[in-house]
Amino acid sequence: MDRKVFVTHELPGCRIHELSELCDVNVWLGPGLLPAASLREELGGCQGLVCLLTDRIDRELLDAMPGLEFVSSMSAGVDHVDVAALTARGIPLGHTPGVLADTTADTAFALLLAAARRISEADRFVRQGAWRRENRWSPDFFTGKDVSGATLGVIGLGETGQAVARRGAAFGMDVVGWNRSPRDVSGIEQLPLEELLARSDFVSVHLALTEDTRGMLGAAQIAAMKPGAVLVNTARGGIVDEQALAAALASGALYAAGVDVFAEEPVPVDNPLLALPNVVLAPHIGSATTRTRARMADIAAANAIAALRGQPMPHCANPEVYAR
Ligand code: DGY
Repeated sequence: MDRKVFVTHELPGCRIHELSELCDVNVWLGPGLLPAASLREELGGCQGLVCLLTDRIDRELLDAMPGLEFVSSMSAGVDHVDVAALTARGIPLGHTPGVLADTTADTAFALLLAAARRISEADRFVRQGAWRRENRWSPDFFTGKDVSGATLGVIGLGETGQAVARRGAAFGMDVVGWNRSPRDVSGIEQLPLEELLARSDFVSVHLALTEDTRGMLGAAQIAAMKPGAVLVNTARGGIVDEQALAAALASGALYAAGVDVFAEEPVPVDNPLLALPNVVLAPHIGSATTRTRARMADIAAANAIAALRGQPMPHCANPEVYAR
């Protein structure tokens, strides 16, 4: 077999093994994630790359891979890849949309409920032994915000946003939405972004990170949110201005936040959000169930297999490469 494919991490699922019937496969076995310098070294003679969202696929790396024919990322988001550079080279980029929508929506809703009902704070309170006779049940003990009857604003009405909207409706919320481009979604009242921010008691973000959405929820948009609202972000950190969010949470302008994604990951310990008791934190685990990760890996493998067979990838982030 003359073609070589590099896989930057061991993957779950059952399809990744099929690659070795079509090419030489080299899997990075660690320890840890593959450092960028090693990635460049390993990739020199490769025709294919199967990667994770933690691997930065930039122009420098692509320049080091003159024979590259495809990239398949085990992720829905592709903001870690210079898509324009791949497209300019005619190289298809596979990704894994769809299968993680419900799982990510569950995470968003878990953060929303935890932020509304102060679950992380309550957990710390019990563990730290603060729950004592002189500090126990009283009418205002650990009171939070009701979800039922509240308005949920969903920013981004793709599959995950719609899955969050369904959960909101099932919890008795009034659901409103905003999407970057017109999209017909039944059962969700669509509003201009400013109106959604002003009306919503809970706002959940479900956008891809692109040059257009980077910093989209900045200081002005956060200041335009309904006083006492809760913000949940399971999309990408770069969409929300973390400093502005932290300031709004610290001042009480916003009630709480649930944050799974950060501008820099792993999040630096001096990120101001980490010091706030009213922020529920998670380490980018939106899609982290065993079943969903296996499905994502199988789609990443299917994309790579199609490319090796000279067929279009079933889930291609830059399908224009096939129109040439
Ligand atoms: C993705 O695939 O883009 C998600 O962020 C993974 O959780």
